[in-house]
Amino acid sequence: MTLPAIPAHVPPHLVGDYPLVLGAVSDENPFNRIIPDIQNGPAVMYSPNGYLGMKGAWVFNRAADLQAIYLDTEHFSVKDFAPFAKFVGENWNLVPAEIDAPMHGLYRAMVNPIFTPRRMAQFENRVRELAREYIAPLKNRNECELMNDFAFRFPIAVFLELMGLPMSNVEQFLEWENGLLHNPNVDVITASTRAVTNYLQGEIDARRNNLTDDLISYGLKAEIDGRKLTDDEMMGFCFNLFVGGMDTVSTTVSLQFRHLAEHPEHQAILRDDPSKIPMAVEELLRAYSPSTTARTCIKAVKVAGVQIMPGDKVLMATTLVNRDPEAFDAPNEVRLDRNPRHIAFGFGVHRCVGAPLARREVIIALEEFLSAIPPFRIAADAHIQTYLGGVIQPVSLPLVWD
Ligand code: HEM
Repeated sequence: MTLPAIPAHVPPHLVGDYPLVLGAVSDENPFNRIIPDIQNGPAVMYSPNGYLGMKGAWVFNRAADLQAIYLDTEHFSVKDFAPFAKFVGENWNLVPAEIDAPMHGLYRAMVNPIFTPRRMAQFENRVRELAREYIAPLKNRNECELMNDFAFRFPIAVFLELMGLPMSNVEQFLEWENGLLHNPNVDVITASTRAVTNYLQGEIDARRNNLTDDLISYGLKAEIDGRKLTDDEMMGFCFNLFVGGMDTVSTTVSLQFRHLAEHPEHQAILRDDPSKIPMAVEELLRAYSPSTTARTCIKAVKVAGVQIMPGDKVLMATTLVNRDPEAFDAPNEVRLDRNPRHIAFGFGVHRCVGAPLARREVIIALEEFLSAIPPFRIAADAHIQTYLGGVIQPVSLPLVWD
């Protein structure tokens, strides 16, 4: 495959091979060697194929540089953050992920009340019930494939509940999610985007005359600057929840379970005292941050001494910067009581709005699994591959217990 030409302003010595590109699959756990190796390299590099569709992108390794870019809305835009609408010839934006400041503030004010810790506490029992439903059948077994048996379907079920959609959609949503987020083939992404937008449009239309207390109805009732959302804004809102709210949680659950399966001493600490789970989840979020999004430069600027030009893409690799030795002492060591100020949920105005829900889901997944299933480990014959790219996710996670 021919790589795109390197722009003239990119110094040749900064061009490098970035292993975490969409479509790459690793046979080893990328957190053991690949990610620490990138961290040991230069603070900034230019990857000729770092961005979706074989486009070049800058990769920053230091938390301070990435935080500066998150905050610099004068030089960096979230437009084309994930060009799903473009793929299907439409021009809605993800709401609020693809809205730049200052307008973003209006949209964010609309979305913020959905995920307050108080609302999440009210939803807590239902989330726990759903976790138990998926874990119950595993109690009579001594093995499972965590992705298939739990990590994918549990967050999808929570999402369906929030959106007021039938549980019978779990399998279909899983297929669409994989097509949207783990397939580098633009035709597959396009077909999945079309299927999801058609489905969501049908549900939005159905709700118009039958408003309930689900999130689709929330969007229809909401106002931005004193007016209702347009059709495009409604699609952008629902689509943003679809791409933001399920796969990220599945991935986080799988990466944290993998760590505990490979570190029985850490699993024992949480089994002995489940009140340590919430703090452990924060450290594991830091050490195993799954998400890389992007920004587009809109005005020439220097970051870390490097010239970035309009049109350049920058990868917002939380995966890398949460292991920055300048930000964290011994970053490749997991210390369950570290209680870090990580940026697994991003930083600045676009910081993840679903973080309170995500945290509850991961904590509940661990609490329920650890209390129902004996100490687990990775199956002896397991060959675990991991998707790299925008979301770092094990392809499978075979676990066994006695
Ligand atoms: C552990 C799970 C999750 C992780 C690691 C995660 C990560 C992130 C990150 C890094 C961002 C910032 C992106 C950027 O600025 O470029 C973000 C934003 C966002 N996330 Fe999450 N997320 C998770 C769960 C969720 C859930 C459960 C939902 C909703 C149901 C959600 C909805 C959103 C939305 C709507 C935004 C855009 C916020 C804005 O632009 O103002 N996320 N997420």
